[in-house]
Amino acid sequence: MTSIDKLLAAMTLEEKLGQLTMAAAGHAVTGPVLAAGVKKNIRAGRIGSLLNLWGAPAVNALQKIAVEKTRLGVPLLVANDVLHGHRTVFPIPLAEAATFDPALWQRSASEAAAEAAADGVAMTFAPMIDIARDPRWGRIAESPGEDPWVGARFAEAKIRGFQGAGLSGGLANTQAVAATAKHFCAYGAALAGRDYASVDVSERLLHEVYLPPFTAAVAAGCAAIMPAFNDVAGIPMTVHVPLLRDWLRRDRGFEGVIVSDYNAIAELLRHGVAADLVEASAAALAAGVDIDMMSGAYAQGLPAALARGLVSVNLIDAAVRRVLTLKERLGLFNNPFGRGSTTSAGAPLPQVRRALARELGRRAIVVLKNDYILPLSPSLRRIALIGPLADARAEMLGPWASAGSTGDAVTIREGLAAALPGSQIDYAPGVEITGTDVSGIVAARECCRRAEVIVLCLGEAAHMSGEAASRANPGLPGAQAALADAIFDLAKPVVLVLFSGRPLMVATVAEKARAVLAAWFLGVEAGHAIADVLTGKFNPTGRLPVTWPRDVGQVPVYFSVRQSGRPAAPNDRYTSKYLDMPVEPLYYFGHGLSYSRFVLSNLRADKSEFRSGNQLTIEVDAVNEGPSFGEETVFLFVRDPVASVARPLLELKGVGKIALRAGEGGTVRFDLAADDFCFLGNDWKPILEPGEFLLFAGTSANPRDLLSLKLCALPN
Ligand code: NOJ
Repeated sequence: MTSIDKLLAAMTLEEKLGQLTMAAAGHAVTGPVLAAGVKKNIRAGRIGSLLNLWGAPAVNALQKIAVEKTRLGVPLLVANDVLHGHRTVFPIPLAEAATFDPALWQRSASEAAAEAAADGVAMTFAPMIDIARDPRWGRIAESPGEDPWVGARFAEAKIRGFQGAGLSGGLANTQAVAATAKHFCAYGAALAGRDYASVDVSERLLHEVYLPPFTAAVAAGCAAIMPAFNDVAGIPMTVHVPLLRDWLRRDRGFEGVIVSDYNAIAELLRHGVAADLVEASAAALAAGVDIDMMSGAYAQGLPAALARGLVSVNLIDAAVRRVLTLKERLGLFNNPFGRGSTTSAGAPLPQVRRALARELGRRAIVVLKNDYILPLSPSLRRIALIGPLADARAEMLGPWASAGSTGDAVTIREGLAAALPGSQIDYAPGVEITGTDVSGIVAARECCRRAEVIVLCLGEAAHMSGEAASRANPGLPGAQAALADAIFDLAKPVVLVLFSGRPLMVATVAEKARAVLAAWFLGVEAGHAIADVLTGKFNPTGRLPVTWPRDVGQVPVYFSVRQSGRPAAPNDRYTSKYLDMPVEPLYYFGHGLSYSRFVLSNLRADKSEFRSGNQLTIEVDAVNEGPSFGEETVFLFVRDPVASVARPLLELKGVGKIALRAGEGGTVRFDLAADDFCFLGNDWKPILEPGEFLLFAGTSANPRDLLSLKLCALPN
């Protein structure tokens, strides 16, 4: 008998259900506040895990009760949402995705894990790997963007980083935390972009777009998975037997913990698939959900479900076993206080983490437009810094700042002042982020009168993206468009810095600006990172992980579309387009400018014909024709022009990077397998159909800039 068997054998039903129950310990600005009864319930063995708790003293005090004062001494599992850093807040995930750099994705996760673990946290509800193609949905900010291939790479890197890849003992290392891949699945396809809304996607979309990041997460050894709040075609994910039990557990072999989303089991009643908590808890358990986050349904409903024969003790035991196994893998039985041993609360953020935040931040910034104005000249004497985001410390951290502290954030005003000590920087907010008061616009214009260049900082407040932050019209909020108009009226060069958790609908404003930067929410080093890019101290490399629409009416708009039988043609009315706007987005997936100019040529492959089982080497040459050292990102796409199922025009299969000095040339190499040319046939099995394939390489998904190459797949 293993120690877990012995524990299970010794447990009462109430204690077993306790292991399946996650409660909130609550966290206020000044420190943790215990939800009523938490201590008492831990002592009674009725709570096995906690969320929203961090800080070594608070965590250890509760852990002490669990370990020393309960009948069986099972340690608590303490979890928290560590989405983009813990105390050191890094860029939001969508911004991190813009770096297209798995090594950095992993590093920020491992630093965040170490920080959270020092604060007693053993599990994070991250990575969020929902593919998101609708900027109305606020949670696009937490996602790796629109593409499943990127989502899969993001999942792997984050899971390795959180779970201590490379550390001795792996997950048991006290600097590692258990990762939770979420939200399983298709949450990003919420109806009309409304958070929590119903989802109805085709089987093909599920398998080709929404599931691949989860396949990668399972393969990377992800400790936990969280079902999404939404239903998929009428079945709430919390009880989705075909996807949770069959696809995830049986077919992918996922043996980790499934933790419900917040109160999701009780919400099955409102979904209209359970009459009471007894039915709700039975259905969730049967689908494979192990931990009930915050609904109390398991504790209240499962005893009656057992009595009614809706669930078996074996099913409960299997869930408890998975929870105990996770606690064991985390080393909690041997060393329950190991993680909360070195709290950093109140201490300044370590320089190395600040440096990482700055590096990530500047790599995440996407220069969307630059009409010969950037980088700013160091000899500029007067700059006007305008807009409600120019000195907005609290907003820099973004929507899920965990234990981050506003005081640690650097604003763009501070960053620019530090970067350009010889320039006078005059600042005026003009308007607030939201609201209708335009009385500050006069002063803002006045501030610009003597400026040689205007840096206009507009966008959303941090809380306007993230959970429960859908926007039907995700443009510039409040009176910011009026401010922008008043500033453009001055006919001076304007550099627009956009803060947002999503692509914002800013086509007309972007048109008038000489340069536009997507600065997302970059975390504690936002101001320095933006100044690095504006001044050219750092040559920008960020690329859009999501297509940037012209207008909300184009949504959803993404690069991996099918052509249709009537592809858009300018002079043919009866083709797939709009009467009132172009079909092309404002900026394509992958778009992002550098201060260098790269030219790609000579896309080639080591074989022009291949068959199943073959490996292919694809190469493309790049030359830096710009004046300075820079990095280019090259995207490799595949198209199967004739297949038994119509295939997307472009499917991303690789992303390569190359760093080149001015005038230097080099080669970007991609390794593909014949499997990369497969698609799911009508039986949902991967199939390589013989015939022609097209490869494309380019610096974005803009079809006008792609190099192409024909290959042929031979029958086996
Ligand atoms: C609800 C969110 O959907 C989920 O992402 C998060 O992990 C939980 N709340 C816990 O905070």
